[in-house]
Amino acid sequence: MKLTVNGVAREIESPLLTPLLAVLREELQITSPKAGCNQGGCGACTVLVDGEPRRSCLLPVAAVNGAEITTVEGIGTPERLAPVQQAFVHHYGAQCGFCTPGFLLAAHAYLAHGGTDDRAGIEEALAGHMCRCTGYVKIIDAVAAAARGDSFDLSTTAAGRFTTHTEAAR
Ligand code: FES
Ligand code: FES
Repeated sequence: MKLTVNGVAREIESPLLTPLLAVLREELQITSPKAGCNQGGCGACTVLVDGEPRRSCLLPVAAVNGAEITTVEGIGTPERLAPVQQAFVHHYGAQCGFCTPGFLLAAHAYLAHGGTDDRAGIEEALAGHMCRCTGYVKIIDAVAAAARGDSFDLSTTAAGRFTTHTEAAR
């Protein structure tokens, strides 16, 4: 079987029914997709398959033979983060980070399909993604900011200043 993963052609040797999540993590050593529930219920394993968010824990690799797979490494680099990645940093959309790759990819697809900063639309796009840490407000703030095309000074954010708060709250 063949996959294109983050733009690189890969030959896959795992058995046909191996979940895509296991192929990515164990055969290809791409560990950003996380095994949360392994039952389709949490979204932590989400990757893009031909541009659409899919739960890789439920997908036998044979079902995606020939597909283009994108993990969070494929949408930006530490030096050149994608807009939605910048927004997550700026708005503190990640805490422990376990759920974050899945949220980022679902949000990236939502924005690629013309998603706006409408909160109901964002909630629908992210439905079924579980986060134990953030309470979701900052995640939705981040996606809305990316949809608006906000720009961010990440050097300020990375210095630990609460850039989503008012000046008085610092
Ligand atoms: Fe796939 Fe939870 S690990 S949905
Ligand atoms: Fe910890 Fe979402 S940031 S589970």
